[in-house]
Amino acid sequence: MGRVWDANSYDRVGGPMTAMAAAVLDRLHLSGSETVLDAGCGTGRVSELLLARLPRGRVIAVDADPDMVAIAAANLGDRADVRRADLLDLALDEPVDAILSTATFHWVLDHERLFGRLAAALRPGGQLVAQCGGRGNIISLRRAAEEVMAEDRFATWFGGWQAPWTYAGPEETAARMERAGFVAVRTWLEPHSIVPDDPAQYLATIVLGAQVQQLPTNLRASFVERVIDRLPAPLTLDYVRLNIDALLGKAGSPTE
Ligand SMILES: C[S@@+](CC[C@H](N)C(=O)[O-])C[C@H]1O[C@@H](n2cnc3c(N)ncnc32)[C@H](O)[C@@H]1O
Repeated sequence: MGRVWDANSYDRVGGPMTAMAAAVLDRLHLSGSETVLDAGCGTGRVSELLLARLPRGRVIAVDADPDMVAIAAANLGDRADVRRADLLDLALDEPVDAILSTATFHWVLDHERLFGRLAAALRPGGQLVAQCGGRGNIISLRRAAEEVMAEDRFATWFGGWQAPWTYAGPEETAARMERAGFVAVRTWLEPHSIVPDDPAQYLATIVLGAQVQQLPTNLRASFVERVIDRLPAPLTLDYVRLNIDALLGKAGSPTE
């Protein structure tokens, strides 16, 4: 896994993420007694919405970040099985009936391996429903951030910088899913604008967290302010979400 997360701050400012996830959750077909994996559960806010749909079922909530896992465990208590694991190394004892993932896959750079691990964790015929940043996501913000990163004051901290995200397109994603053994794959992009209540905190915590962590503490706030200053007010994030719906083929994952 790449960056670390300020989980306390994410739990406070992540409301727009939870709101986007609610519509994704609606795409899961549940009878209420399934075991569902929340892949990249963060602080467990979406896992909570999922739990409400599973009165007789179970949620396995997995995240790689130790602080996210700690807060998710506190938020969910014994209602969910919260585990710390990198999705790229995911190995469950028993396959789950379904997988939900929101706002996570773009933080994982190796999608080929990611979909292979998810296929191995899902029972044949099980449903995967996901949404993450897709091709063209937050393009104006990314351009503004790159310009500020190149400014004299900041450039020295970004030597060898590699973007922490991959914003994949629907066609390449569908092909990867099919190679991993998924069938009935549907992938599509969906624009979604968000105007955060506290733009500086939102950017520092979520979107620009990896950039901010490259910088010494005394430069962090001014970096974020410089990015905000380059964009029209009020700050509007032009999200483009990549939606993924698929079933695991009856033959299961070809990698297992
Ligand atoms: C923006 S948060 C989304 C959290 C939650 N799903 C939501 O919608 O609010 C992204 C989460 O993905 C997790 N994540 C990123 N890469 C991961 C990986 N390789 N394995 C497991 N979790 C990962 C991060 O630790 C973080 O908690």
